Amino acid sequence: MQTQRKHEKGRTVIELRGVVKVLGEGETAFEALKGIDLRITQGEFCAVVGPSGSGKSTLMYLLGALDRPTRGEILIEGANIAGLDDRGLAQVRNSKLGFIFQFHYLMPELTALENVMMPMFRAGTGLHEASQRADELLSELGLGEKAHRPPGRLSGGEQQRVAIARALANQPLVVLGDEPTGNLDTQNADKVFAIFERLVKEQNQTIVVVTHDLDMAARTQRIIRIVDGRIMDDGPTQEVLERHKAQAMARND
Ligand SMILES: Nc1ncnc2c1ncn2[C@@H]1O[C@H](COP(=O)(O)OP(=O)(O)OP(=O)(O)O)[C@@H](O)[C@H]1O
Ligand SMILES: [Mg+2]
Repeated sequence: MQTQRKHEKGRTVIELRGVVKVLGEGETAFEALKGIDLRITQGEFCAVVGPSGSGKSTLMYLLGALDRPTRGEILIEGANIAGLDDRGLAQVRNSKLGFIFQFHYLMPELTALENVMMPMFRAGTGLHEASQRADELLSELGLGEKAHRPPGRLSGGEQQRVAIARALANQPLVVLGDEPTGNLDTQNADKVFAIFERLVKEQNQTIVVVTHDLDMAARTQRIIRIVDGRIMDDGPTQEVLERHKAQAMARND
């Protein structure tokens, strides 16, 4: 991946200010995020952890410009996305963000290679360059041989890796993942995290991933812990993990 550009380290890429998100309407309306202030800087590798239902996916949807906040501001490279229409959000997503979902949503009628090429087409990359880069990415993820198969003839873990290649295709400002290794066995999850680590180290790639796996979270640099729609802890990985362990032990006493 020599064509990758290096990102400038340390500047703010995404900032949330007083973000509230209400899901549902009327009787079933629920405040899933209750006031989030968060700043992600270039080159950070962050894990978002917390109990089921705490608001992690809701937060990722907002970071990924897949949804708008009910209140508050979301600044991506300084520009507030809260007021953008659907087209504006799509443009931000395609040009700046690479999202890896828990369920990968590959297009079944396209091959793995074509799935990875798709976001590059949307960004105006030429056919030759797109296919070359897609091929490189798939090879790097151990799928070089299977690039021409449709998702239906790939295993779950292989499909997940295609989805990861697709997320990386446009050299996004930020890679976002909601349990990106959730469907993978330990060995493949390890491969994916190794790729993340290398992107962070070599290209100052910014990566934010939700994970329930504390061994995986331990490989990041920063942990953001969400409980009941609020940030309960946020800091260097080792410190957050130690506080978390201490609290868990205190509860058991
Ligand atoms: N349409 C909706 N209407 C009302 N509440 C909703 C709606 N969708 C989700 N919720 C609630 O919002 C909260 C946050 O959901 P979210 O999906 O962000 O949790 P999560 O932390 O990602 O959980 P998990 O670890 O299980 O994926 C949950 O308590 C959920 O029940
Ligand atoms: Mg979730």
